[in-house]
Amino acid sequence: MKKQGYYYVETLGCQMNAHDSERIAGVLEEMGYKPCSEEEALEGKADIFAINTCAVRENASNKLYGHVSQLWEIKRKNNPDMIIAVGGCLAQKDKENMVKRAPDVDVVFGTYNLQGLPKLIKKAQKTRKAQVEILPRLVQFPSELSAARQSKHSAWISISMGCNNTCTYCIVPSLRGRERDRRIGDVLSEVEEVVANGAKEITFLGQNVNTYGSEFGDRGLFAKLLRKMADYEKDGLKRVRFTSPHPAAFTEDVVLAMAETPNVMPSLHMPLQSGSDKVLREMRRSYKSERFLNILKMVRQNIPDAAVTTDIIVGFPGETEEDFQETLRVVEEARFASAYTFQYSIRPGTLAGAREDQIPKEIVQERFERLLELQNKITLEQQKTFEGKTVEVMVNSNHGRKDNQQKELTLSGYTRDARLTHFVVSEGTKLIPGDLVNVEVNHAAPYHLVGTLK
Ligand code: 5AD
Ligand code: SF4
Repeated sequence: MKKQGYYYVETLGCQMNAHDSERIAGVLEEMGYKPCSEEEALEGKADIFAINTCAVRENASNKLYGHVSQLWEIKRKNNPDMIIAVGGCLAQKDKENMVKRAPDVDVVFGTYNLQGLPKLIKKAQKTRKAQVEILPRLVQFPSELSAARQSKHSAWISISMGCNNTCTYCIVPSLRGRERDRRIGDVLSEVEEVVANGAKEITFLGQNVNTYGSEFGDRGLFAKLLRKMADYEKDGLKRVRFTSPHPAAFTEDVVLAMAETPNVMPSLHMPLQSGSDKVLREMRRSYKSERFLNILKMVRQNIPDAAVTTDIIVGFPGETEEDFQETLRVVEEARFASAYTFQYSIRPGTLAGAREDQIPKEIVQERFERLLELQNKITLEQQKTFEGKTVEVMVNSNHGRKDNQQKELTLSGYTRDARLTHFVVSEGTKLIPGDLVNVEVNHAAPYHLVGTLK
C-alpha cells in the first residue's frame, strides 16, 4: 500500500550527488511520498529527511553530525515518526560508525544501493532501530531507477560511475570504486526519454567522462556519444554539456566531436589541480603542465570561442613557493574563464593525507589569496570582452525579482559558453525555462553578465 507522507532530500557536494538525489527522490515518490520544501521539512513536515552526503568537502563528517543532531531536535519536537536517512559518499565511508557517532540516524545507505532504500526505511519504521546497508560495489546503476528531476528543461544523465585513477589527494576512488560504464544503448534511451519530456539541455556526468567506454574496450565511445547528440537537435535538444574530463585522457577525437557537433556547447571544465610538474607527479595526475597547455591550444584551435574552467588545489603537501609560482604561470597562460580554487586539506585514508610535509595553514591561505587575485583579474578581463556583444542565453528561471517600482523582471540563464547572465524584460513577457533568447550585454561583472533582451 502506498503511504501518504512527505519527504525532503538535502544534497551536499557535486552534480553527481545532485543527480543521485533525483534518483533518491524518485524512489521515495514510488513509495508514495510527496516532496515538501526545505523550510517545511525543518518544521517537521517531512516523514523522510534524506541527506545525500559528500566526503570531498573539508570537515564533512563534523558538519554532518552537527546537522543530524539539529534534525533530531526537530524530530523530537515536531514529528517523532520522522526518518533521518543518510546516504552518499560519507555514509559509504563511515558505514556502521555513523550510527555510533550519530545514534539518531535511522537509515544509512551507501552510494551503491539507492534501490535498497524502501526496504531499509520500512524496516526502520517497523523496528525503530537504525538500519545500515552499505554495498561494496555497484550492482545496479541508479540510472535504472526512476528519477524525480529538479528541472524539466535541463537534465543530468550519468554515463559512468567511479574512477580508475588514484590521485593521491582524492577520496573518490575509495568510495565510488572503479569506473563502471553504462551501455550506450541505455544512455541513448535516457536521452530520448528526457528530450521527449521537454529537456532542451543535457549534461553528461561521470567522474572521468572521456574514459567512457574503456570498460567495453571502446576508447572512442565518448566522442561517438557526443556526435550522436546531433540527431536529437530536431527533437528540441539545443545544448549538450558534460563534466568532467581528465586531461590525461583528453584526446583529439573529443575536441573534434565538440567542434563539429552543433548542439555540443563550447564550454569545458578541465581540472588542472597544479601547474608544477613535481606536484602533478606526486598527485599522480599522469600529465605535465605542458601537455595540459597543449590540450588547451588544440581546444582553442578547433573551438575558438571555447570557455575553459578548471579546479586548482593550493598547498598540496611539499608544495614550495617555486611550485606555486608554476601554478601561477600556467594559470596566466591558460586564460581560464573561471577556476574553482581549493585549499588542500587532508582526506583521511588518502596517500597525500599521510604525508608529513603538510603545508602550514597560513602559507596555504596566503597562496590561495594570490591565486584568487590572479584568476579574478583574468576572469574579469574575459568577461569584459562581452560588453556590447550579443549572446544566446537559455532561460533558466522565470521568477525574476522585481526591479524598483518599474514593471520589469530580471530573468537569468546561461550563455552557450556557460556564463551566468541576467537580463531585464518587461512584465508580461512570456518566457519559460529552456527558451533561447538573444541578449545584448551592457555590463560585465566577475561572475555574471547583465544585458537586455534583443
Ligand atoms: N583538498 C582540496 N581539494 C580537493 N579536491 C579533491 N580533493 C581535495 C583535497 N583533499 C578538489 C579537486 C577536485 C575538486 C572536486 O575538489 O580540485 O577536482
Ligand atoms: Fe579523484 Fe582524480 Fe578520480 Fe578525479 S580523477 S575522481 S580527482 S581520483
